[in-house]
Amino acid sequence: MEKKITIIGAGNVGATAAHWALVRQLADVVLLDVMEGIPQGKALDLWQSGPLDGYPGTMRGSNDYADTRDSDVVIITAGLARKPGMSRDDLLAKNVAIVKSCAEEAVKYSPDCVMIVVTNPIDAMVHTAFKVSGLPKERIIGMAGVLDSARYRTFLADALGVAARDVNALVMGIHGDNMLPLVRLANVAGVPVTDLLSEEKIAEIVKRTQMGGIEIVNHLKTGSAFYTPGLAAIEMAEAVLTDSHRVMPCAAYLEGEFGISGYFLGVPVVLGKNGVEKILEFQLTEEEKTALAASVEAVSRQMAATGL
Ligand code: LAC
Repeated sequence: MEKKITIIGAGNVGATAAHWALVRQLADVVLLDVMEGIPQGKALDLWQSGPLDGYPGTMRGSNDYADTRDSDVVIITAGLARKPGMSRDDLLAKNVAIVKSCAEEAVKYSPDCVMIVVTNPIDAMVHTAFKVSGLPKERIIGMAGVLDSARYRTFLADALGVAARDVNALVMGIHGDNMLPLVRLANVAGVPVTDLLSEEKIAEIVKRTQMGGIEIVNHLKTGSAFYTPGLAAIEMAEAVLTDSHRVMPCAAYLEGEFGISGYFLGVPVVLGKNGVEKILEFQLTEEEKTALAASVEAVSRQMAATGL
């Protein structure tokens, strides 16, 4: 195919992302992992769906970064996932080392890629990849807002009894307990949810969205969510590969937008072939500014902990 995606990490999120890349017929895919055999086996299994679903590309598993050469998009999912009782921050030290090596190796072979970072804690990992890769800020994006907003939209749609796709709602800030699901702007086909649901119900949905990851970890016990995280990464990759200018909440590097500088934080982004084409800045209320400041504080603690 014309385009190439590398997915680093052949665990649940990486393999799910590979599956969605295939279903959407986006690109040739290289699934890379340090574990011998796992990426090869999963990629081969996925590739063999081609005759059944019409995927025209190739799906290769590899342990060798040379196979990732000239990728248009690199998605980093490698790292440890949470178990019950763990916060995303508990993963930080181990995953910094993993993401550092993935980003360094990947850019050697794909210096012009757009890199999408999925490994947790996402906001610190995207900072890590930015520091070590040397990629321009536009070409490094963290996946979090697409997932968190999808959760928010799901819960709102369920409460309203409407189709989830008609719910528009934005989650900004950190991918953590301080994330900011915006209530004021949430709407169903243009109708504000504040006119349709009680304050208590909305507050309950906001809380459930903020705790959306741990709710799933507590069910699974052995790891964290992967179906929607995998698809969310591919939504972003698709927007880049097709230069669609779709608008999605992503962790992007801020230089003065929303009054914040020097941090990756979830904000609405126009995605195109160069990654972040534009950040859509808008006026926040005082309450929203305070909530976003809590995200900045949490991200800055994480960034300091990366030592980069
Ligand atoms: C979650 C993990 C992936 O939110 O952070 O499900």
